[in-house]
Amino acid sequence: MNNDKISIVILAAGQGSRMKSPKAKVLHTISGKPMLYHIIKSSLEISDDITVVVAHQKEAVIEQISSFFNNINFVVQDAKNFPGTGGAMKNVSIKHEKILVLNGDMPLITAQALEGFLDSTSDIVMSVFDLQNPDGYGRVVIENGQVQKIVEQKDASLDEIKITTVNAGIYAFSKAVIEKYIPLLSNDNEQKEYYLTDVISMARADRLRISPLLVDEHTFKGVNSKKDLSDSEIIMQDKIKTKLMNEGVIMQLPSTIYIEEGVTFEGECIVENGCRITGNSLIVNSHVKAGSVIEDSIVKNSDVGPMAHLRPASYIEDTHIGNFVEVKKSSLKGVKAGHLSYIGDAQVDEGTNIGAGVITCNYDGIKKHKTIIGKNVFVGSDSQLIAPITLEDDVMIAAGTTVRSGKIESGSLAVSTAKFKTIKDFYYKFFSKK
Ligand code: UD1
Ligand code: MG
Repeated sequence: MNNDKISIVILAAGQGSRMKSPKAKVLHTISGKPMLYHIIKSSLEISDDITVVVAHQKEAVIEQISSFFNNINFVVQDAKNFPGTGGAMKNVSIKHEKILVLNGDMPLITAQALEGFLDSTSDIVMSVFDLQNPDGYGRVVIENGQVQKIVEQKDASLDEIKITTVNAGIYAFSKAVIEKYIPLLSNDNEQKEYYLTDVISMARADRLRISPLLVDEHTFKGVNSKKDLSDSEIIMQDKIKTKLMNEGVIMQLPSTIYIEEGVTFEGECIVENGCRITGNSLIVNSHVKAGSVIEDSIVKNSDVGPMAHLRPASYIEDTHIGNFVEVKKSSLKGVKAGHLSYIGDAQVDEGTNIGAGVITCNYDGIKKHKTIIGKNVFVGSDSQLIAPITLEDDVMIAAGTTVRSGKIESGSLAVSTAKFKTIKDFYYKFFSKK
């Protein structure tokens, strides 16, 4: 079968009431991206004609998906009059002779798994797997080696409910099958919905060829509840981290590490236990130490943590970021910030040392302001830099100084603390001990 002759339809119009969430089910995220994003990404690897059926929260679904892809057709289901997965197919127009229909709640699906549906010459190929606990899935009734029908759990008889062979929710149909049977579906069932799965029994009655394709439970897992969401997250995380380790990233206790789908690594990198790296972060030849969080940031030839937090839009190069340092929307090149600092909306240049407890006071209660720190600056411990502020090259800030807005010129020392003195016997007087 020729791949560019395949149309793919993804059903994403359902409410997902079992998620118990105000958010549309297909927009719940796995490894940082909506479930629907993952399915579309795999689908685009094997087809250029992707249709997503929407209805529930359709504006939000279209907006989010359009921010990732610009080549998707959206079709709106008349969910009021034709609810259900069969109803979702009613307004779909099919371009090619073969069509793959995917449920939109299967974020773990891969292009390779989808290709498995394309070899057959049957009228219908449907995915099945065997489960110890088939709860929630449609049961596949097979007699004399032939698929007879799919029975939804809510409609199943006591005997049928015991069947452990279930419908995984992906089907390859010929265009003729869809055009013939979708208009014939009825909603005469427990949920008063138009089930796509009823196409199977109708096609069987007409003696069409229906091939069950045994698929693997992990890749085809459907997400109906928040527990399913977390189970799928574990599987997706395992895939992401295994791939990264195969590409050369060292991970200590990878089961404790969370890395989102858009993160990339280059060179030799180490990620210690308990780290979280999100967004489109890029990590190059760096060591991310235990318990650190890196969000949408770039880290090159640096070490970060333990327990450091790089918030979005941070650029760190040739830099040491130590424990309990928070950086936000800042660029640090050739810098040491070893302990307990907040560096926000700042630009810090080579050879500069940020002492323990230094804070860039970037927010005046209304607006954010920038801090510019030049080369070879020594910022003493426990100093506050009140932005907007510029420290030119070769500046010293004495420990405990509050540097007010403005510019400190090259070569200067800034001190704001009172002159140091000792008061003899003050302790004893204060506590009346002598
Ligand atoms: C469906 C199958 C079930 C199968 C399971 C596999 C039907 C009737 N049942 O059940 O046999 O074992 O998937 O995961 O197809 N959707 C719409 N419009 C609607 C209703 C649903 O587009 O009116 C979309 C949903 O957004 C979802 C997909 O169809 O992405 C599946 O719907 P869902 O309610 O999750 O079906 P299941 O009960 O899981
Ligand atoms: Mg489902």
